[in-house]
Amino acid sequence: MIPIAAPTFGPTEREAVAEVLKDGTVADGPVVREFEAEFASYCGVEYGAGMANGTLALHAALEALDIGAGDTVVTTPFSFVASANAIRLAGATPAFADIDPETFALDPHATERRVRETDADAILAVHLYGLPADMAALGDIAEDAGIPLVEDAAQAHGAQYGGDPVGSFGDAAAFSFYPTKNMTTGEGGMVVTDREDVARRAASFANHGRTQDGTYAHERLGTNYRMTSLAAAIGRVQLDKLAGWVRTRRSNAARLTETIEPVPGVEAPVEPDGRTHAYHQYTIRTEHRERFRDELAGAGVDTAIYYPTPIHQLGAYDDFDVDAPVAERAASEVVSLPVHPELSADDVETITAALQQTTIEA
Ligand SMILES: Cc1ncc(COP(=O)(O)O)c(C=O)c1O
Repeated sequence: MIPIAAPTFGPTEREAVAEVLKDGTVADGPVVREFEAEFASYCGVEYGAGMANGTLALHAALEALDIGAGDTVVTTPFSFVASANAIRLAGATPAFADIDPETFALDPHATERRVRETDADAILAVHLYGLPADMAALGDIAEDAGIPLVEDAAQAHGAQYGGDPVGSFGDAAAFSFYPTKNMTTGEGGMVVTDREDVARRAASFANHGRTQDGTYAHERLGTNYRMTSLAAAIGRVQLDKLAGWVRTRRSNAARLTETIEPVPGVEAPVEPDGRTHAYHQYTIRTEHRERFRDELAGAGVDTAIYYPTPIHQLGAYDDFDVDAPVAERAASEVVSLPVHPELSADDVETITAALQQTTIEA
């Protein structure tokens, strides 16, 4: 079966880890500082704060922006549950706004309405599947309301909006380095920002509220969300490979799209003008999802559904009364195909042949 994801580690990752083990500074340390600086620079911003994973990076970003009890954060119901869980972990309440049916990201009109209705304190936008959300429109809404904009870029390393990297638009952005992501550190995450105050506070929150390295001065409540040097060492190597991997994802996606466009009953993903999709996932939609998946499985192609249930319909969100028909329909129609850079030319041929042979009809 051609897998939906295939994290890759080569000799350079192994050497980088061996180097850290030899040095002995395996927890927080200079390697983490180097990775933070390099990843922030890749995102076109000044500061990075390494975290133990992407969920905690989102939590630390919200905390650093002073979002907490009594606050409301407008976000999408069509994402991995971590996006909304982070808001609740910070003590705030998510207010879900519906999505755009083509990009699967927050619909700016719905967002603007929810910000007004709830007198929101922040917006959390998700670049789902690696396609940037409408950052110009969402930035305007946040600015008009005088509230911060946070990017959940967990799936979007290497994506761009108007030629600028994601992570450079919000007051803060959070990335994940989970193994299936466009680059990995095992588990890992990072807050990136151009705001020195936000970077300092996120890093301090991740280190028990410590205000100065090497001291025991803890000026505010914090926790231990720190990234390890082992993770950072892997991250530095993977970051070097990221641009090439994203190029391969994009060329694999282009092959899939030219194959899918003539197939009735299947809609290929869109890439609106000015946005560069990083194709963390290549996600189509079809009303005949189960048959489509069975046919692809029969041809040896793995598929996956991200996500079968919108967040507001999960058990953990029972108390949330939400009107999001576009997200609900998307959750019943989306299917992701393998697009990762480890696909061989033969794999891509196998996938395109399976797509051409599908019996789905509009
Ligand atoms: C959109 C989104 N946000 C947040 C996260 C959380 O990242 P992590 O798994 O590293 O905690 C993920 C990871 O799957 C994600 O896909």
